[in-house]
Amino acid sequence: MIPLQEKMIKLAIPNKGRLKDPTINLLKKAGYNFRVKDRLLYSTCTNADLQIIFLRTDDIPILVDSGVIDMGITGSDLLVERNVTRVDEVLPLNFGRCRLCVAVKEDFQGKDIKDLDGKIIATSFPVITKKYFDEAGVSITCIEMGGALEIMVGLRLADAIVDIVETGDTLRDNKLVVFKEINSYQTVMIANKKVSASPEVQKIIRRLQGILIAEEYSLLEYNIKREALKQAEAITPGFEAPTISELDEPDWVSVKVMVRKKEVANDMDRLEAIGATAILETEIINCRL
Ligand code: PRP
Repeated sequence: MIPLQEKMIKLAIPNKGRLKDPTINLLKKAGYNFRVKDRLLYSTCTNADLQIIFLRTDDIPILVDSGVIDMGITGSDLLVERNVTRVDEVLPLNFGRCRLCVAVKEDFQGKDIKDLDGKIIATSFPVITKKYFDEAGVSITCIEMGGALEIMVGLRLADAIVDIVETGDTLRDNKLVVFKEINSYQTVMIANKKVSASPEVQKIIRRLQGILIAEEYSLLEYNIKREALKQAEAITPGFEAPTISELDEPDWVSVKVMVRKKEVANDMDRLEAIGATAILETEIINCRL
């Protein structure tokens, strides 16, 4: 085991589940070099003052809230469930968007939430679940579990579950379907309020932000006649403002601008239609803006 070092920032990340791999990939892309191995509890970055601590996603909010750990990556659903007050959500991450849903067996006959009155619900989210059913005026028995909720319905120990749904594969595999959606959540980076504004924490946030923006945007370059520049700028306003450079030909300028990846093809069509030439898309690997 690697001992935790006081002077290092401690960042807790999921040790399993759907958030584990995207989190590790993001940190590696941001240039943090650390060892990943099953059952490893800590890993010290070889090239930064950062210690990665592998924890259960649902324990991360409490530990960051207590200040024992400085930062964490977890689901915003768990921040609500754990009712933490001493953490800041410092960066939303572009993965792990999910819905918290009430799920029932495929052949469940009910239609309304009131059809679950008197039923048994298994969940890892007892706080949100009880509040949801209370507000609906529906009386339920809530069984709190750490995971593997789906099996409870299969074993007829529960009538429904309240769980996270991302792709829906887990529900399908267990012959369950979404009955009601309670709320939507996303993956977030959190920091204890005492350290969230510190330069060390801000540096980590900036690094990850650079990767997230780079993943979402491409760099587009094109030449356009000066007279059509306003139109072109309306099509590609950029993340901030486009960079305009002079060309040898006085009537023409060259434009360099960031464009959302999902809009690039459409923007290229529109730029071509107003006379832009030499339109090039380049992948952005990393950026600081
Ligand atoms: C959640 C949830 C389901 C699964 C749903 O678990 O409890 O098991 O994700 O995802 P899907 O709709 O894409 O199949 P998670 O992987 O977050 O970790 P856990 O097993 O520790 O709860």
